[in-house]
Amino acid sequence: MPKKVPEQIIRLGIVISIIFGSVALTLYLLPPALKDKPFHRRSTILAETAKPIQFAGSNACADCHDDKYQQKKTGYHRNLSCETCHGPAAEHAADPITIKPFVARERRGCPTCHEYDPSRPTGFPQINPTIHNPLQPCVTCHNPHDPVPPRTPEECAACHAGIVRTKAISSHALVACTTCHTVPEKHKITPRIIRPTKPETRDFCGKCHAKGAPVVDAPKIDLSTHWEKYVCWQCHYPHLPAERL
Ligand code: HEC
Ligand code: HEC
Ligand code: HEC
Ligand code: HEC
Ligand code: HEC
Ligand code: HEC
Ligand code: HEC
Ligand code: HEC
Repeated sequence: MPKKVPEQIIRLGIVISIIFGSVALTLYLLPPALKDKPFHRRSTILAETAKPIQFAGSNACADCHDDKYQQKKTGYHRNLSCETCHGPAAEHAADPITIKPFVARERRGCPTCHEYDPSRPTGFPQINPTIHNPLQPCVTCHNPHDPVPPRTPEECAACHAGIVRTKAISSHALVACTTCHTVPEKHKITPRIIRPTKPETRDFCGKCHAKGAPVVDAPKIDLSTHWEKYVCWQCHYPHLPAERL
């Protein structure tokens, strides 16, 4: 005797045929115009192209604002379009005297891209707008069309104030930072990407502190017996060497 089909399979079959049936019925009832794919593509394109063009593109601005165009071309903002900051300006390009584009002179505009945000790529110039030279508009100090990196800080103290203050009262006060660290000029512009060197061996400190080293003022130790298994800065903080760790 053939086995009986289970009841739940029959119910499932009924539900599926109702779904397929109603889809087929809906397709059958729809007017043909609504099912004409090429017609839909055509009309969408027509509707989009009928909209007024709002952006003119940076090259269009060059015709009348060649000075700004040339300034921006080689600067840090070279990859920004004029209309990123000035808004859509096609109408202005067509009728420059009566229609003026938007000019963001206040501080609000620039932090859209430059406010500190940890998700931005390393090295992207970021600031904290509440403490970075507050109250004045950004454009009093930075030219928006050629934001040259402002003067690079001369002194290590601009960024390593704590270390500089500590060393200034230590017995290494007269040993310059650059005696122990070779600092590429670019470290002051992109400090996290271009890094200075740090001493790596005991012999480095030995240049002044080993017995017989020519620096008279530096107290001497015997490199071969003075805790020879360790590097010096495991015990002496180099920026405050009298303090033993
Ligand atoms: C056909 C010439 C022409 C074109 C093209 C043109 N401009 Fe202008 N633009 C002018 C003139 C003229 C002025 C008015 C100068 C004035 O009033 O002193 C002006 C003024 C401006 C101003 C200053 C507005 C203000 O309130 O001070 C901005 C910003 C500006 N244009 C941006 C643009 C941008 C961006 C483009 C490209 C999308 C562009 N312009 C294209 C001629 C042009
Ligand atoms: C990073 C944003 C930014 C970009 C990109 C930018 N501008 Fe500007 N632009 C400004 C700001 C901000 C001012 C107002 C400057 C001021 O008041 O000192 C300004 C001022 C102007 C002015 C008025 C001139 C004046 O001295 O008052 C013109 C014209 C102008 N921009 C054209 C352009 C053109 C053309 C481009 C593209 C080649 C461009 N800008 C790209 C932000 C930008
Ligand atoms: C649409 C995003 C955007 C806006 C808005 C913008 N910038 Fe920039 N800015 C950039 C980019 C991108 C760079 C180049 C970064 C690089 O080279 O890594 C840059 C670079 C800079 C630098 C160079 C920093 C350095 O030392 O490397 C300064 C300063 C600067 N912008 C100031 C401004 C000011 C002021 C404004 C407002 C008038 C402004 N930016 C608006 C995207 C923007
Ligand atoms: C009073 C002048 C002044 C004003 C106003 C000012 N800046 Fe600066 N900005 C500087 C100087 C100077 C530096 C160089 C670094 C330093 O010494 O702090 C700098 C550095 C920068 C840098 C580079 C930071 C880096 O890490 O490379 C950016 C980006 C920047 N400023 C954006 C802005 C923005 C955006 C505003 C407005 C919200 C603004 N600045 C307002 C003077 C100014
Ligand atoms: C514009 C700010 C700035 C200036 C100016 C600057 N530094 Fe730095 N320096 C930094 C930053 C930021 C770091 C990275 C700190 C971190 O990642 O913890 C750093 C790291 C270092 C390091 C550690 C490198 C490493 O791999 O651990 C040394 C050493 C150093 N700086 C020495 C100097 C000396 C010496 C000077 C002066 C000649 C100087 N720096 C000037 C910002 C600066
Ligand atoms: C006598 C040599 C010497 C001098 C002078 C010196 N450093 Fe260092 N510095 C070192 C050594 C060694 C280390 C590595 C310490 C470690 O790895 O624990 C170091 C580490 C650093 C670091 C990494 C962070 C830290 O605290 O360990 C920075 C930043 C730094 N030095 C900045 C400076 C600055 C700025 C000056 C000048 C004010 C300076 N150093 C002067 C020897 C020196
Ligand atoms: C350019 C020479 C020079 C170099 C390199 C140097 N020092 Fe010195 N150091 C001195 C001088 C000079 C003094 C003593 C200054 C004084 O007492 O007037 C000194 C003092 C010290 C003292 C004694 C501190 C005290 O007051 O008791 C220690 C510890 C010391 N250095 C450790 C180090 C270590 C660790 C290094 C390597 C990271 C190092 N030094 C690299 C020149 C140097
Ligand atoms: C394990 C820890 C340790 C290490 C590593 C170490 N020191 Fe010392 N250092 C000391 C102690 C503790 C003293 C003080 C007692 C003494 O004089 O032995 C001292 C004293 C000194 C003095 C002062 C001597 C005087 O006459 O005033 C100098 C200079 C010195 N160390 C340099 C170095 C140098 C350079 C290195 C690396 C080659 C180094 N130390 C490695 C622990 C250490």
